Amino acid sequence: MDINEIRNKYLKFYKDRGHAIIPSASLVPQNDPTTLFTGSGMQPMVPYLLGKDHPEGARIADSQKAFRAEDIEEIGDNRHTTFFEMLGNWSLGDYFKKDQLSWCFKFLTEEIGLDPKNLYVTAFMGDEKNNLPRDTESVELWKKLFKEKGIDAKESEIGSEEDGYKKGIKAGERIFYYDAKKNWWSRAGKPEKMPAGEPGGPDSEVFFDFGTPHDTKFGPKCHPNCDCGRFLEVCNSVFMQYQKQDDGTFALLPKQNVDFGGGLERLVMASTKSPDIIAVCHHPVLTHLEKASGKKYGKNPEETKAFRIIADHIKAGVFLISDGVRPGNTEQGYFVRRLLRRAVRYADVLGITKSTLSEVVLPVAQMYKDSYPEINAQLENITKTIAEEENRFRKTLSRGIREFERLAKDGSISAEDAFQLVTTYGFPIELIKEEASARNIKTVDIKGFEKLNKAHRELSRAGSEQKFKGGLADTSEKTTRLHTAHHLLLKALQIVLGPEVKQRGSNITEERLRIDFLHGAKMTDEQKKEVEKIVNEKIKEALPVVRSELEKEKAEKLGAEHEFGQKYPDRVSIYSVGPKEATEQDPQYEKAYSMEFCGGPHVKNTSELGHFKILKEEAVAQGIRRIKAVLS
Ligand code: ALA
Repeated sequence: MDINEIRNKYLKFYKDRGHAIIPSASLVPQNDPTTLFTGSGMQPMVPYLLGKDHPEGARIADSQKAFRAEDIEEIGDNRHTTFFEMLGNWSLGDYFKKDQLSWCFKFLTEEIGLDPKNLYVTAFMGDEKNNLPRDTESVELWKKLFKEKGIDAKESEIGSEEDGYKKGIKAGERIFYYDAKKNWWSRAGKPEKMPAGEPGGPDSEVFFDFGTPHDTKFGPKCHPNCDCGRFLEVCNSVFMQYQKQDDGTFALLPKQNVDFGGGLERLVMASTKSPDIIAVCHHPVLTHLEKASGKKYGKNPEETKAFRIIADHIKAGVFLISDGVRPGNTEQGYFVRRLLRRAVRYADVLGITKSTLSEVVLPVAQMYKDSYPEINAQLENITKTIAEEENRFRKTLSRGIREFERLAKDGSISAEDAFQLVTTYGFPIELIKEEASARNIKTVDIKGFEKLNKAHRELSRAGSEQKFKGGLADTSEKTTRLHTAHHLLLKALQIVLGPEVKQRGSNITEERLRIDFLHGAKMTDEQKKEVEKIVNEKIKEALPVVRSELEKEKAEKLGAEHEFGQKYPDRVSIYSVGPKEATEQDPQYEKAYSMEFCGGPHVKNTSELGHFKILKEEAVAQGIRRIKAVLS
């Protein structure tokens, strides 16, 4: 089974069990300055896990696009990718352990046909220090589920981090208790690491056994959480039932929730019994690269690594660009640039020296044409962006090599030299290492470089906290105008359709704005006309657009619009539109037409916008509508 088959089966399976299927949120969190990328499916669900009512009900499922920048350097082995999809299902105070584990098991064994003999599971062994009980209930449920498949699954305790997880698996053992390091989940990690207010809970993971021999480099004996490659975690059911208190203790949340995450690509690996994620989830890309290079994937370790890096990086680049990111030197753009440049560098290893990487966009778009049509829709733009970056980098690459040779004349590369090569010449650090070793240069101050680089990255991250990036493709004048029109539109939708209309995503380019919002029915022509009329009136009224900074709580009290599921800092930036007399010194919030949590940029006055028109109104998922609109 491939990615599309498993994703479809999963969503259908949970839909049949009463779940509302919601669309994937953007890889760039909307209006969320705390994190650059969406890295797990539960990020947008936090307010609901904490007790807020979800507009779609108590059972939700999705497949969420995720990107983990911290894994870039790991790529090249058989199991890491920077981009992946996380299948999710949530019970918001509805079903709990019994249904969750039996549905999960049924899905794995009956829907995608995994042999239960290859499945191993784990559960939380309890944490006395924090007064958190052992999860015997999950273990009993697993025993029963395996028994129904004719398997007598024995339980055992692998133990804790302090013991080094040294105990191996004895005959018949299939269910393993681990400590909080392994079987407790929160965004912050184990209980001690959680800040007050954070939700978390015990979890139960399922591992697939590829049956490969244990590699003692990873520990004396193998067990499900060993990293030698025999076992692969395919999914995780978190029982989100606790919240950390101010005094450090744990209290039960008002609702007992389930937060499930399944690695879509990993499930494909398990279903095909292939331990190579790139071979099974990137094959159309590999086929293309084999043709372009005349080399075969899997023949030579160095080349196989290059194939993997290119395949991963181009796919991730395509998804990020389709979510509005452009290669650049800061924030999200920095990572896209890094991915594309590394891909070019490794294309060299395969002897691909012509600009061909942009051609890889097509097989990626083809793979995802049904589930992520935004890629096909932006094919030309994505192809052009990648081609331009590749061409630019190929030019800097030769300049960089010259600079490298100049700096290396004294027989060493200092931290500052390396930093200059990376930032000014876009030379990846691993390329510096490789060039150095090829020229027999022994001293490259990698540690010093990493320090400089870390400081640089923190600086650009801090920069992103000042700026609104979510959903905005750039900050050109046209995009900025559409951004202000977006605020006028959201308010107009609330006036015409009702105050329960909430934004669920946005994307703005130079050409058009796009808003996804909660609303149960198709809009009538009259409603669309009415919305257009209101927006155009507000443009004619020439209202000032004013930015102010407020305490988050105050802004919430004033009713400033913000996106559900996002975390905000204690002080937030607010944009209000109107009234006519409003100034930065006296924003007159009570009389404002619209008010939103937002970092800008915006025009100074709505009179700069021109004429507003809705191009299209359509469904994107049950209960979620999408409008595309333009200014002329
Ligand atoms: N939130 C859980 C995870 O990411 C399901 O593993």
